[in-house]
Order: sequence, then structure tokens, then C-alpha cells
Amino acid sequence: MDYQTLNNSLEIPQIGLGVWRAPNEDAAKAVEWALKAGYRLIDTAAAYKNEDGVGQGIRNSGVPREEIFVTTKLWNSDQGYESTHQAFNDSLEKLGLDYVDLYLIHWPVAGKYKDSWKAMEEIYASGKAKAIGVSNFHQHHLEDLLADAKVKPVLDQIEIHPTLTQEPLRNYLKSIDVAVEAWSPLGQGTILNNPVLVEIGKAHQKTAAQVIIRWHLQNEIIVIPKSVHEQRIQENFDVFDFELSAEEIQKINGLNINERLGADPDNFNF
Ligand SMILES: NC(=O)c1ccc[n+]([C@@H]2O[C@H](COP(=O)([O-])OP(=O)(O)OC[C@H]3O[C@@H](n4cnc5c(N)ncnc54)[C@H](OP(=O)(O)O)[C@@H]3O)[C@@H](O)[C@H]2O)c1
Repeated sequence: MDYQTLNNSLEIPQIGLGVWRAPNEDAAKAVEWALKAGYRLIDTAAAYKNEDGVGQGIRNSGVPREEIFVTTKLWNSDQGYESTHQAFNDSLEKLGLDYVDLYLIHWPVAGKYKDSWKAMEEIYASGKAKAIGVSNFHQHHLEDLLADAKVKPVLDQIEIHPTLTQEPLRNYLKSIDVAVEAWSPLGQGTILNNPVLVEIGKAHQKTAAQVIIRWHLQNEIIVIPKSVHEQRIQENFDVFDFELSAEEIQKINGLNINERLGADPDNFNF
């Protein structure tokens, strides 16, 4: 397993399991399989309504809590100073944990995210979140947040995959020492038949999914592929025994068409 060091010195595993759209029971099984396969990072959110299942999976795995990096997120309707504190306590209770490793603002809700951040800074100071960060923040959202923030976000979790490579935002994040984490890293499964990815995979006896995950890793992007199938969970983690050449990375970069699968953070209505 490779780790990245965040700007507050916390170490984060480079690969984790995402559990969006996995109901509690599926999430519990997926988390247990992932931890047994060697994953040490789990990405959930209050909005996924499966924090109970994630907590169950962690307990069922038998892996010590301190070895696991747990991320959860503040939902949009809970943003604001008081409600952020309340939502965080609810998340801890559902997870059955006394701290999380990372708490994220899920989306930059206009007029609210600064008040939410103030509460998150207090949560961080209390030690109940070992790190705090953001998700779906464009450069201008971060510049606005940083103008008043006492604590810098450790990372920005954004949509990235070979058809949406987000190089300008990644370069900005690097320049301010905020780590990059990719959501929908496999393009929600829609790009796994892409001939360029399949062909590169053949050369390494790997699948397109493994090639994409490797591409994220070699670009220093933290990556959280989701699956509720044990064999795929194992496959997505079996990426530490090969390396893409510079030419292969360039070919994959060339698949970028700036196409979002999710909402644009400047234009969302949820
Ligand atoms: N911050 C945000 O706003 C935000 C937004 C979206 C997602 N996320 C996070 O990012 C995580 C990952 O993104 P995602 O779930 O949208 O999509 P993803 O990881 O890009 O793709 C998941 C899809 O690919 C399939 N899949 C996974 N591994 C596969 C393999 N080896 N071979 C074939 N198919 C495979 C999965 O199916 P099965 O499950 O049936 O195997 C699922 O349909 C989420 O779970 C969530 O934790 C965050």
C-alpha cells in the first residue's frame, strides 16, 4: 500500500473503497471484504445513508480501528455552524466510532460553506476529526474559503477519470499543497470498454479498471473506486505490481473530453 502525507502530516492510503449507492447491508459486506483484501481507506457520506453499514463492516473485519482511515461528509442541507456540529455527531453515532479520520464538506453550498467550515475547524481542534477537507470545490471556492479559514483543507475530492482529467484544478491544488482525491475514478464503470484502456491493460495482463486506477496513482491522485462485488474489490486493489510507461500515461491523458458524469459545482440544485 502506498500512502500520501497530507498538509497536516496525517498519512492517507492512496486507494480506498467508495460506497455511494450501496445500501447498508451491501456496504457492510463490501467494507469487510475490502479491509480483508488490504484496503485501509473507506469513503462514505451522510448522504449515502450507509454509515451504519460502514461501521458494521469495520467491526466485522477485525482490523484494528487505528489502521483504518475513515472519511465521511457533511450533506448540503446540514450546512451552517450549529447544524454542522449536529450532523457530525450524528455521523459518528451511525458509524459507531469516536472519531473519523477525515470530514469533508460535500458540496460548496453558496452562503453556507464558510459557517460550516468554522464548525469543522472546531471539530478538528477537538480531535474528533483527524483532518478536514472539501469536495467539489473549484479554485474560486477554495480561494474564497482560504480568505477566512484558520485551517487549510487537507484535500479536495473532485470528479476525475480519463474522460475528465481536470488538469488546471489539479495544478492549482498542488500549488497550494492541498491533495487531490478522485471520485467516480472509473467513470462509474462507463469507460471500462474503452479500446485504448483495454489494449494498455492487455500489455500488462491487467483489466481496464486496473489501468485506470494505476493512472490515478501515477498522477499522485488518491482514488476511491466503488464496488460491492468481492472479486472486483480485490481486482481494483491488485495494482501494485505493474507500472504504466510515460507513453501509456500520455495516451490515457489523451482520452480527456472534459465530460462530467456528475453536476458542475457551479451549477447544482441539491
Ligand atoms: N464527493 C462526491 O460528490 C462524490 C460523488 C460521487 C462519488 N463519490 C465517491 O467516489 C466513489 C467512487 O465513485 P462512483 O461510485 O461514482 O463510481 P466508480 O468508482 O467510478 O465506478 C463504480 C462502478 O463501476 C463498477 N465497477 C467497479 N469496479 C469494477 C471492475 N473492476 N470491473 C467492472 N466494473 C467495476 C461498479 O459496479 P459494482 O459495484 O456492481 O461492482 C460501479 O457500477 C463513490 O462510491 C463515493 O464514495 C463522491
